[in-house]
Amino acid sequence: MYDFLLHFHSGWRWVLLVLLFMALYTNFTGWRSGRVRNAGDAKTNLNLMAGAHLQGIVGLWMYFLSPKVQWHASTMKDPVLRFFAVEHLLTMVIALVLITIGYVRCKRATVDRNGFRLAFWYFLVAALLLLAGIPWPFREALGAEWF
Ligand code: HEM
Repeated sequence: MYDFLLHFHSGWRWVLLVLLFMALYTNFTGWRSGRVRNAGDAKTNLNLMAGAHLQGIVGLWMYFLSPKVQWHASTMKDPVLRFFAVEHLLTMVIALVLITIGYVRCKRATVDRNGFRLAFWYFLVAALLLLAGIPWPFREALGAEWF
C-alpha cells in the first residue's frame, strides 16, 4: 500500500502542477481581459481544488506510513527528518488552504474581474509554496524521485 501511495503521490504532483498553471493562466487572462466568467473557468478552478485535496489526502495518509516521517528528540536537528515531518507538511497544507480560499472567493465574487484577480493571486502564492515544498530530486539528501 505504501509503495502505491508513494508512486501515486509522486506522479500526481505533475498533474497538480499542470492543473495549477492552467488555472493561473485562465484567471490571469480573465482578469486582464475583463471578460465574463464562464462554466469552463469554474471547472478549471474546481479541477485544481479537487486535485489538490486528493494530493493532500494521499499525503496525510502517507504521513502515518512513511519511514521518512519520524518524531523523536533529534527530528528537528536532522534536515531530512525535519523536512518530511514539518516543512513539507506545513508548506503543502498552507498551499492547499490558499487554493481552497482562492476557489471560494472567486466563486463568491459578484464582479467577475475581481473573482479572476483574487483566484490568480491566491493560486500564485500557492504555486510558489508548492514549488518550494516539493522534495525535488536535485535536493539529493531528501532521496525523492522524479516520478
Ligand atoms: C497535506 C499535504 C501533504 C502531505 C501530508 C504530504 C506528505 C508526504 C510524505 C510523508 C512524503 C514522504 C513519502 C516517502 O518518501 O516515504 C511525501 C513525499 C512527497 N510529496 Fe507530499 N505531502 C503533501 C502534499 C504534497 C503536495 C501538494 C505535493 C506536490 C504537489 C507533494 C509532493 C511530494 C513528492 C514529490 C514527494 C516525494 C515522492 C518521492 O519520493 O518520489 N506532496 N509527501
